[in-house]
Amino acid sequence: MLYSQKVLDHFHNPHNHGEISSPSASAQVGNPVCGDIIKFDLEIGQRPKDDGSNESYIKDVKFQTMGCAAAISVSSVMTDMVIGQSLEQASQVSFEDIVKELDGLPPIKIHCAQLARECLLKAIEHYEESQ
Ligand code: FES
Repeated sequence: MLYSQKVLDHFHNPHNHGEISSPSASAQVGNPVCGDIIKFDLEIGQRPKDDGSNESYIKDVKFQTMGCAAAISVSSVMTDMVIGQSLEQASQVSFEDIVKELDGLPPIKIHCAQLARECLLKAIEHYEESQ
């Protein structure tokens, strides 16, 4: 299986790996077929928008992933992509965006990117439910 250099870089040197001690929200998802598990902790902040209202944004995110090299790489690159984004922007990151950011994934590993996206959406949903 051929991985891009970016996938290998994130696998060997994952960004934002670990836990947030008092997260605003968390979520964990698993794929029952391959057994991989991804967990995201979110720290949500508030900031003013141009129109004077406030928006929630991702101040910090950490991941813990038990799984394949691709699952670790997609988790790592996704945290880089969404830090600083509003919840609305982060919700719109697609699995295709993640795959593109990694310069591609082998077809058999596309579901790893779908799993990371599902996990982030679930964490955002948990945050919104708690408000
Ligand atoms: Fe299933 Fe990577 S092989 S998430």
